[in-house]
Amino acid sequence: MQNLIDIMDLSIGEIDELIAKAKDIIAHPDVYRDKCRYKKLATLFFEPSTRTRLSFEAAMMELGGNVLGFSDAGSSSATKGESVSDTVAVVSGYADIIAMRHPKEGAPVVAAMKSDIPIINAGDGGHNHPTQTLTDLLTIKMEKGRLDNLTVGLCGDLKFGRTVHSLVAALSRYTGIKFVLISPQELKLPSYVKESYIKKNGIEYEQTTSLEDVIDQLDIVYMTRVQRERFFNEEDYLRLKDSYILDAGKMSKAKDDMIVMHPLPRVNEIAVEVDSDPRACYFKQAKYGKYIRMALILKLLEVE
Ligand code: NCD
Repeated sequence: MQNLIDIMDLSIGEIDELIAKAKDIIAHPDVYRDKCRYKKLATLFFEPSTRTRLSFEAAMMELGGNVLGFSDAGSSSATKGESVSDTVAVVSGYADIIAMRHPKEGAPVVAAMKSDIPIINAGDGGHNHPTQTLTDLLTIKMEKGRLDNLTVGLCGDLKFGRTVHSLVAALSRYTGIKFVLISPQELKLPSYVKESYIKKNGIEYEQTTSLEDVIDQLDIVYMTRVQRERFFNEEDYLRLKDSYILDAGKMSKAKDDMIVMHPLPRVNEIAVEVDSDPRACYFKQAKYGKYIRMALILKLLEVE
């Protein structure tokens, strides 16, 4: 049995296979309609979510399977003091696979120790979000045609943004990648992420506080929301929340084939006027998330 806790649990070869499978699902959805008949996916969401949970549920439904779960820790026995381990031990008797989101870093590792069925980390605190990264990689492959030789700008809350941490880890294994890390001083990429992936792999990178100064170099700009729920005080959040706003003026300085990505939800960091720019990919990105999760469910359930 295999889990997906961290994007590094997958080799580059396995990621390529998942991307190829997702493309095949997009091209031939009918072939997959009954692949998970009689299988159940449990979504255990101890933290808010729209895309991740609903795309997991839609993915399982499109494979002919069923879904059960909760979308709010407040409606689960967590409020009575049940541990994650106990919840998972019980749910692994009801379902075939679990997608779990939790505010505590490392919770999915603990869950995996108590589970008889595959566990997928659907986001753990400010740590990791591997299925968002699979979504991002599929988006890059579909929209840019490659996963190498790219200058990737990561902009916003690089400290608490778990999607950024997983994406940096994943892209650091490809060749010809350059990262441009754009954030306020207080929200810089954690040094453990920089050391373990960027520096360890000798990846070229640049750090800046100005999006405007660097946007013309980028093949991809990956915007992120300032992660209010991870701040220790509201004042700091209010001061930093509008650090970057990508608007038509900034887009006019970017390459014609740059793509704009965002894991969503967006707050203010991309002006609505950018939505009609053909380089805006974030809604397409959310759609790709369903297909790559279908591919992942098939892989973890070992369905041919
Ligand atoms: C992200 C997350 O939950 O980390 N959302 C998502 O899954 N698409 C990004 C965010 O909440 O800012």
